[in-house]
Amino acid sequence: MSSIDNFEKNDFDLKVNEIMLDFLGTLQRTQMCGELRVEQDGQEVVLMGWVNRRRDHGNLIFLDVRDRSGITQVVLDKEVSPEAHAKAEAARSEYVVAVKGKVRRRGAGLENPNMPTGAIEIVANELLLLNEAKTPPFSPAEDAIANEEVRLKYRYLDLRRPQMQHNFELRSKVAMAIRNYLVEQGFLEIETPFMTRSTPEGARDYLVPSRVHAGSFYALPQSPQIFKQILMISGFDKYFQIARCFRDEDLRADRQPEFTQIDLEMSFPQQEKVFRVVEGFLTAAFKTASISLTTPFVQMTYDDAIRNYGIDKPDMRLPAMVSLTDVLTPELREQLKIEKDLPVLGFVIPKAGTLSGTQKRALVEEIRATFGDSGLDFLDVARLKTNEAFNPLAVAIEAKLSDEQTRFEAAAKQVDAVDLIIVITPKLGTPAKWNHDPQWIYKRVGALRLQLAAKFADKHKLFEKTGTEADYKFLWVTDFPMYEWDEETKVWNAAHHPFTSPHEEDIKAGRLTNDKGAVRALAYDIVLNGTELGSGSIRIHRQDVQAEIFRSLGMSDAEAKERFGFFLDALEYGTPPHGGIALGLDRIVMILAGATSLREVIAFPKTAKAIDLMVDAPTPVSDQQMRELHLKTVTRT
Ligand code: AMO
Repeated sequence: MSSIDNFEKNDFDLKVNEIMLDFLGTLQRTQMCGELRVEQDGQEVVLMGWVNRRRDHGNLIFLDVRDRSGITQVVLDKEVSPEAHAKAEAARSEYVVAVKGKVRRRGAGLENPNMPTGAIEIVANELLLLNEAKTPPFSPAEDAIANEEVRLKYRYLDLRRPQMQHNFELRSKVAMAIRNYLVEQGFLEIETPFMTRSTPEGARDYLVPSRVHAGSFYALPQSPQIFKQILMISGFDKYFQIARCFRDEDLRADRQPEFTQIDLEMSFPQQEKVFRVVEGFLTAAFKTASISLTTPFVQMTYDDAIRNYGIDKPDMRLPAMVSLTDVLTPELREQLKIEKDLPVLGFVIPKAGTLSGTQKRALVEEIRATFGDSGLDFLDVARLKTNEAFNPLAVAIEAKLSDEQTRFEAAAKQVDAVDLIIVITPKLGTPAKWNHDPQWIYKRVGALRLQLAAKFADKHKLFEKTGTEADYKFLWVTDFPMYEWDEETKVWNAAHHPFTSPHEEDIKAGRLTNDKGAVRALAYDIVLNGTELGSGSIRIHRQDVQAEIFRSLGMSDAEAKERFGFFLDALEYGTPPHGGIALGLDRIVMILAGATSLREVIAFPKTAKAIDLMVDAPTPVSDQQMRELHLKTVTRT
């Protein structure tokens, strides 16, 4: 007997907050809310979920009942069950309900083609109110909620939204597909510690104070890097882990302080072998979203990426930059006051649309403002296939464009009269500014290319999804530089991490000491639509080379021994050649879900200030805890 049977007649005009909540009793759910179709017409069912919306038409009340799988319309007809109807009068949004009733095909013209269950409804003969809900600060039934702080504070409500439920279903499927693929390929999943020593991945560590060892701290891992290399030394051959990592760094839309890597390492691999494994698991992952990928992915060296895209993570959905350097005669350079030995770069913004004179002038101002006094100058906005006035370069550029061999022409073929061509030149007398980095001009123009693409993208649907492979442009970038010059501290840092192997010929040529800027690493990135999805490398497996790399990074032998002594020791006990990679799971899911922030695909993320608004962390701790941990807070002036 359900509690509905105990319902007293005089309880009928229940008011909100005066209702008696029901117990579930022995009632069993028969289906999920998104499952029913016309095939179940006439079937007796029990659904449970949340009231998504309630519409009161007097003797008829409609409740849309929602669970993870979807929404079903439930009809409470006073004629059918006055008790159930009365309870529906008391029900409000987000109340938790159980409904028993019959599936009924909706009448002609009453179907809702936008809902998978839109052809049916449930005629309820029992309704249980299992729990009430305060009026929520926003309705999970609404799609767009502007205030992200409110969303994060009431994350449990935000996560009820169908879009969020979809994102986490996708995330779970993607992780499972990757795990299955790697296990099939002979990888073992092995966990590595959270409480450990610092791993040098370029960010600050999160530290955990030790109660037992006064003044000592564990570091949370920035990645499992050293452990996975040690697992290779231990003979595990193929390791992977869907690993949580922790980094205290400046946060952005694609960076969280704790995030998840698909981390893997293999013994005896060539770089290409690592690529095939990653392509394999990405293909499996994308299949869960019905996207089939073509492999192998395109490859490009770091130098080519910089020269053609001005960035080490090119967005291949946009045409490359083009060198117009050889278009300019010495006379033209002189006339236009352009530095003679530096590149002149152009790029195309597809679908930018027509610009009025005022818009064009504003664009020019915007471009000039981004360059400041760097010495770069904006030369012109041109427009292909129109007769719009052009400066003296026009003739030369036209000539260049007619050259079948150039990529610019290839790019031009894809464009039409509404595409913009932007040409950037270095002014006379500026090269000294960029002496430390000859690639600076490429990077700067590359950044402008992305800035303008983003500016025009939304308005002109530059990146509009087609739901096919064409939406996803993967790329391997190879041969990264080994070292990066830090202008502020005037030191060479490891561009990837210090366990990355340099090219053998660069070691043999003595470049580690003589010409650090020219040393290439066996390091690679996988890039998707301009986002770095993952990084990896073939590692150093010889102790002497590893020690030399530490030295070349300005670390004394004593310091190297202090920080990585255990690892240098381990390398001496028969280390196989090995290599691997780690991909950001959060980033993969973000792109696949069509989201623009990791917060959409991490259940309980942190704000840009690394705060969890729901649980309100971080917080100060009690004096007693501080004492136990041998800690004292000092306020710096
Ligand atoms: P790396 O530091 O490049 O390499 O990290 C690999 C990938 O992890 C993701 N990632 C992040 N995702 C979200 N928030 C962050 N703060 C964040 N930081 C990194 C990115 C990135 O490409 N141990 C090496 C890998 C290796 O050499 O095998 C490593 O961690 O998607």
